[in-house]
Order: sequence, then C-alpha cells, then structure tokens
Amino acid sequence: MKKSNLPFVTNLKIDKEALPKHIAIIMDGNRRWAVKKGLKPGEGHKAGAQNLENIVNYCRDIGIKNITVYALSTENWRKRSAEEVKGIFNLLIQVVKTKRLEYKKSGIKFFVLGNFQAFPFKVKNAIKKILDTVLDNERIKFNVALNYGGRDEIVNAIQNIIKDGVKASQVNEELVSKYLYTTGQPDPDLIIRPGGEFRLSNFLLWQMSYAELYFTNILWPDFTPKELEKAIYWYQQRDRRLGK
Ligand code: FPP
Repeated sequence: MKKSNLPFVTNLKIDKEALPKHIAIIMDGNRRWAVKKGLKPGEGHKAGAQNLENIVNYCRDIGIKNITVYALSTENWRKRSAEEVKGIFNLLIQVVKTKRLEYKKSGIKFFVLGNFQAFPFKVKNAIKKILDTVLDNERIKFNVALNYGGRDEIVNAIQNIIKDGVKASQVNEELVSKYLYTTGQPDPDLIIRPGGEFRLSNFLLWQMSYAELYFTNILWPDFTPKELEKAIYWYQQRDRRLGK
C-alpha cells in the first residue's frame, strides 16, 4: 500500500489508490440531533448543511471524484410541513449563493439529481446560477438529490427513452444508465446512511446494484470527516467480488 500525504484525519491505513470513486450519503438524523440538544428542528438542518460543507471539502481534498447526498426526497417535499421545507430551501439558497464562486475556484461541480424545475422561482434561479458557474469544473462532482426518488428517476428515464423513439431491441443497461440523472457518472461504490435506520428510502435504486452499504447510529450533523474516514477504511476491507 502506498503511503499517502493526503489530508487524512485518522491513523487508519487508508489506501489512497483504492478510494471509492463515488460515495453516496443519506443525510439522516438532523431533527433528532436538534431535539437532543433542545434546539428547533431547523437548527438540525442548519448543522447538517454545515457538516455537508466539511464533508464535501474533505472528499475534494482526499481525491474522491463523485459525492452524492440525499437532501430532499420527493416524499419529504410532499409530506413535510411547509415551514420545514421553506427552511431547507432557505438553507439551500444560502449555500448555493455563498459557495458559488468558491466552488468555481476549487473545482467543485455542483449538480442536481431530481426535478428541481418544480421548485419556487427563487430556489430554481439560485440553483441554475450555480450550475452554470461550475459547469466546466472537474475536480469533484457534488450531486445533491433534490425532489429525488429512485423509482421516479427510472420512470422518467423510461418516458424519455420512449419519447426518443428508441427501439426495444436497443434498450440495454448501458442505455438506461444514460437516461438517469447520474448519466456519465460511475455508480456509487459506497452508500452511507447515518441516523440509525437500515433502509435505502428510494435512493439511487438502479445505481446501487453493487454498492457496499454502511450504516451507523451517528446522526448526520455528527458524521464528521473522521467518521467518513472510518467508513472508507471499512469499505477498503470489503471483498468486492462484483458478481465474480
Ligand atoms: C434528514 O434528516 C434530512 C433532511 C430531510 C434534509 C437534509 C438537508 C440538509 C442537510 C440541508 C440542506 C442541503 C443542502 C444541499 C445545503 P431528518 O429531518 O429526517 O432527521 P430525523 O430522522 O432526525 O427526523
């Protein structure tokens, strides 16, 4: 194993040549984190957004090429209170506005998985602006799943395949992958769910076929780069047979 001078934060022997190419995270536990601290739920999302910032920077610095986070599912958007959704939108606007130029400079390609066209104008506009700004960035792709559902993504792909007049005989796995929001990106090799639940909640259903799944009770705002490094180390101990 090559020794590394990358900014790792634990003493774990991470093999920098065998890092996951794509890490996906279900950011769960924000509200419980807030309740435990006697704070309002919105404070949990705020802490979650701050933690996300640290995690994305860490991934960029150690050389991860793709990170995807589940920020708002189609169900969250429909079922959570208007006040909570508004709070998440405000956080999102704040992040994309304040980080736009910083992301541009440091090579972070912000990208959205999901139908954000359905969002209020102010949110849509802020998202479009950052997407345009970071379009040519290549260091790390940072996908945020917003109004995202795995089944919805597959239905959307099928609709577009039909609209494009593709013949049934031409439909194969490679083609379907091209019609997903993650088109052109490698499938996640490591999916992480903090927050103590053992389910995948309609996240990256097609793309997760061979992913390693890491679950932990730690709540998302406390899932620091140190915890992520433990997950990466765990991942590197797996015997990835990939069907062999
Ligand atoms: C899940 O925790 C978290 C969410 C539904 C929202 C995640 C949003 C952010 C981290 C902030 C905004 C994102 C960006 C990209 C700036 P939960 O509310 O389900 O927590 P619980 O399980 O404790 O109830």
